[in-house]
Amino acid sequence: MASGTSRDVVGRGLRVLGQAIREQPRIFAVAVTGSVLFGLMVIASAYVVGAVVGKVVVPAVARGSVTDGALALAAAALFGISVLRVVGIFGRRLGAGYMQYRLQATYRRRVTRRYLDLPLAWHHRNATGTLLSNANSDVEAAWYPIAPLPFAVGTLVMLVGAVVSLFLTDWALALVGLAVFPALFALNVVYSRRMAPRQARAQRLRAEVSGIAHESFDGALVVKTMGREAQETSRFAARAGDLRDALISVGRLRGVFDPMLETLPSLGTLAVLVVGAIRLRQGAITVTELVSVAFLFTVLAFPVRAIGWVLAELPRSVAGWDRVRRVLDATGEMPYGEVALDPATPAPATLAFHDVHFGYEPAEAHLPGTEVLGEVTFTVPAGKTVALVGPTGAGKSTIASLAVRLVDPRTGTVTLDGVDVRELTAASLASTVALVAQVPFVFDDTVRANIALDRPGIGDEEVWAALRLAEADGFVAALPEGLDTMVGERGTSLSGGQRQRLTLARALAGRPRLLVLDDATSAVDPRVEAAILAGLRTPTDGGAPASILVVAYRRATIALADEVIYVEQGRVVARGTHTDLLATVPGYADLVTAYEQAEQEREQTRTYDEVTPLTSGLEVEVDR
Ligand SMILES: Nc1ncnc2c1ncn2[C@@H]1O[C@H](COP(=O)(O)OP(=O)(O)OP(=O)(O)O)[C@@H](O)[C@H]1O
Ligand SMILES: [Mg+2]
Repeated sequence: MASGTSRDVVGRGLRVLGQAIREQPRIFAVAVTGSVLFGLMVIASAYVVGAVVGKVVVPAVARGSVTDGALALAAAALFGISVLRVVGIFGRRLGAGYMQYRLQATYRRRVTRRYLDLPLAWHHRNATGTLLSNANSDVEAAWYPIAPLPFAVGTLVMLVGAVVSLFLTDWALALVGLAVFPALFALNVVYSRRMAPRQARAQRLRAEVSGIAHESFDGALVVKTMGREAQETSRFAARAGDLRDALISVGRLRGVFDPMLETLPSLGTLAVLVVGAIRLRQGAITVTELVSVAFLFTVLAFPVRAIGWVLAELPRSVAGWDRVRRVLDATGEMPYGEVALDPATPAPATLAFHDVHFGYEPAEAHLPGTEVLGEVTFTVPAGKTVALVGPTGAGKSTIASLAVRLVDPRTGTVTLDGVDVRELTAASLASTVALVAQVPFVFDDTVRANIALDRPGIGDEEVWAALRLAEADGFVAALPEGLDTMVGERGTSLSGGQRQRLTLARALAGRPRLLVLDDATSAVDPRVEAAILAGLRTPTDGGAPASILVVAYRRATIALADEVIYVEQGRVVARGTHTDLLATVPGYADLVTAYEQAEQEREQTRTYDEVTPLTSGLEVEVDR
């Protein structure tokens, strides 16, 4: 994924850091000021210690007694420096932490916001586990170097200050500094370049491991019932093993370079003592100066590591940033139009498909996409109910997605009240149509929140009315806390049929003018299903009936429709009333009869709504 070579990773990493500074300039300034203060105090402390040794300790040793005044002055100076150092550390730490966590929060929000904006076609191509990892560990990784960044910047200032003060002291000692500091810097750069590919690989494997974990927990039901535990475990183990190896190789490199980075300043101190001893004998420097410089090299060793920390985190940061950018820069947005459909009196809408062709985008760009729908033309007249019938895989759900504009046709048009759905505003579309999907989805929230979804004008009264229409008022009233009952993650505390009726109520609460039901009542008792549909066609509360496009199998349900559209392999094969089709289309008759028989057999062994779902919808992100 790291598109560049390790050579330019430092450059690209610095650009990421530049981006961070541009976003949080003030906090960064506070942190760097603290860090520079700290750096200057480190240099000052070296010179004060030198002065204490040269001017207080050495004369005292020579004389055999200590001057109280000089000692008090030295103590006061050291105390003052310590206080300023503490202030510097405080400012730096606070600023760096603030900056890092603010950036993380900002980018998490941006990434998740983007997920919601991207069209369904994009989501079809991207695994949920990867998306979780993008929003989580990739965002974190991108901003890891922010924590040591102010320290490193302050250290650079400190190094410049140190070289200047060395030159002011003695040119020969300054040369030692000029040899050691760049060497330290170069070692850090080599280190981070070596690290780059390893970190990128580890970061990619983190996403893969989390993806596999997500999939196998999400599919816990299948994994358990099909006895796939062993295979899933070994699939996970293999990837987790790869991640372990990648992290070990990171650790091994760290093991080689860390001691080198540690040793270099010590070698500098040694060189200072050797060169300094010669210069002392030549009378070029004083004892005070020699002690100061030797001490300076010792205290510099630690802050210089901060530069290494930043450089070492850069590759991971670049890898994380690339993956975050991939989401933020993802194209394929579904632009909405400008037309608003606002009839004075809410009347049922007319839906029309005209010569619609559609195919899903292939998983990989170079593969050819196959056509799923072709020449689909039909109308759902205002206030009418049209049933969509066809064998599995015929394209019914795809037609439902097109009707509510989850996807757009390749060619042809889908219109609502004569307006191409691509011309409509997002708000207009949302208030006109409602889809109850084949797989019901409920949020881990209360019944009320699941139905109202914070939409304006939907109070408890509207919620109960919708529940009544969906024949769900009975079981909701019986729940321990009624509308306030939490339904559990993905509605795990509800039966399949209850979940379906809750999602139906959610769609009805918005009073859509076109209702698209994709097999939305399959887990509901057939008698209740027919009652729901009958209720929708002729609302008893005086409201206008909606137009309904319903994917259905059951004879009783289909019989309620004004017209039946029979699809096979993405084509409309026949249309007419249920009785006509039964008489004239053999495929249709076979399908409906076969379904009825299967249903009757199932009826004898199962009671609707008493099936407790096994899936717990575990959302686990395995990370680091
Ligand atoms: N996200 C997708 N990516 C690629 N192909 C898809 C996708 N969703 C559906 N298809 C394909 O499109 C075709 C039509 O699928 P669709 O879900 O519309 O069928 P359906 O009639 O609703 O079937 P069912 O009765 O089983 O729900 C199928 O061949 C299916 O494999
Ligand atoms: Mg379907």
